[in-house]
Amino acid sequence: MKITSIILAAGQGTRMKSELPKVLHPVCGKPMVWHALQAARVVSEETPVMVIGHGAQGVREAIGDAAKYVIQVERLGTGHAVQQAESALKDDTDLILVSAADMPLLSGDTLSKLVETQKANSGPMTMLTIVTDDPRGFGRVVRGDDGGVTAIVEEADATLEQQTIKELNVGAYCFDANWLWDALARIPLSAKGEYYLTDTVGLAVEAGLRVAAIMLEDAVEAIGVNTRIHLSEAEAGMRLRVNRRHMLNGVTFIDPASSYIGMDVKIGQDSVIQPNTFLRGETKIGAGCEIGPNTIITDCEVGDRCIILSSVLEKAILEDDVDMGPFARLRKGAYLSKGVHMGNFGEVKDSVLGEGVKMGHFSYIGNANIGAETNIGAGTITCNYDGVNKHHTEIGKEVFIGSDTMLIAPLEIGDRARTGAGAVVTKNVKEDTLVVGMPARAIRNLKK
Ligand code: UD1
Ligand code: MG
Repeated sequence: MKITSIILAAGQGTRMKSELPKVLHPVCGKPMVWHALQAARVVSEETPVMVIGHGAQGVREAIGDAAKYVIQVERLGTGHAVQQAESALKDDTDLILVSAADMPLLSGDTLSKLVETQKANSGPMTMLTIVTDDPRGFGRVVRGDDGGVTAIVEEADATLEQQTIKELNVGAYCFDANWLWDALARIPLSAKGEYYLTDTVGLAVEAGLRVAAIMLEDAVEAIGVNTRIHLSEAEAGMRLRVNRRHMLNGVTFIDPASSYIGMDVKIGQDSVIQPNTFLRGETKIGAGCEIGPNTIITDCEVGDRCIILSSVLEKAILEDDVDMGPFARLRKGAYLSKGVHMGNFGEVKDSVLGEGVKMGHFSYIGNANIGAETNIGAGTITCNYDGVNKHHTEIGKEVFIGSDTMLIAPLEIGDRARTGAGAVVTKNVKEDTLVVGMPARAIRNLKK
């Protein structure tokens, strides 16, 4: 049986009061519409059809070819939106799953249950409901004497009595495709001037056909985002869902509510995430690490047993057993080999620090290679930029760079060389040589 998903993403989201289309607002770092797509993909291999309109170009860019697109030129309601997909799907699918792009927490499991229930239903549709005290502006589910669903009444159209109904329409449905196309053509125009998808229920009931419904147990899944308050609720709900997944995989969270982990982040077993830690983008953390508190890591690869305290890292790679912080900063292209120690107020960019390199305090290393076991004294700076170009600094292994050394690039410093405190090094330094002064001059061969 062929199942195809339609994701409604054309609405403007006026209540968000935003330049950004509602469905592009991120939840845990990914646009809401991305979350809706993930859930839809669980249900079927068929490429989902996305109905776009407001901010269409942005949605296409965010989702790419993971969906097919149809444009809803005039936003005439959810029924009208689904109808736009008819020409793309007619006679090409048996069941249609409809969900909205503004419900980022609705899970693939729940959508699968909708489909399974519809497969067993003699009637043309199955809908998702939830019983809760907070109506959130959702449509109310009206049931007949026999307990069957007879209508969905939108809040704006509901009588005072209907407004007290606690069972709400979540806004996800599975339809028999042929029946749906026919029903959409018969939906009446609402008082609000829209074609409501929810009016398909009335059409089925009038024809004596059974509308099945399944009830959502976890209210978090039903968080639909219409305002920025809802957005923050969705963010909190997703945050806990993501963090629970990591905890079940063996990661310790001291305070899951204040640990902000992106959807694609991977964390190894027995790592500990301290509060106020942000792991974003394509970040991968190894096993047995201690991250945070107060740390932001974006698009980094971190090996095993690393300790990162109160630091900011971006597009960097750390091998095993690196420790850094507090207040260290890694920028694009920083590569810290095994066992590197980087203390406070250090910055590394586009540089490789060899195994066991130590830079304890107040240093800037940019466009440099540093050999194994070299010590970078407090306050060392690679002066890599002459105002026009960046220049490279090559430092050998087991070098000792004295405190407050200025390394004027381009520059090469040989293995086991040393610089005196405050040296301003403008010329290459041979191996096993001590240089001092400003500009630094050789005063002695350390081997003789
Ligand atoms: C809808 C349901 C309501 C349900 C609620 C759950 C209808 C008539 N009402 O109301 O019963 O409780 O969802 O969240 O369906 N959209 C389009 N084109 C349009 C209109 C909407 O693509 O012309 C999209 C929106 O982008 C959104 C989704 O459809 O993703 C739902 O639209 P929205 O306006 O938020 O409907 P609700 O008023 O929330
Ligand atoms: Mg809505």
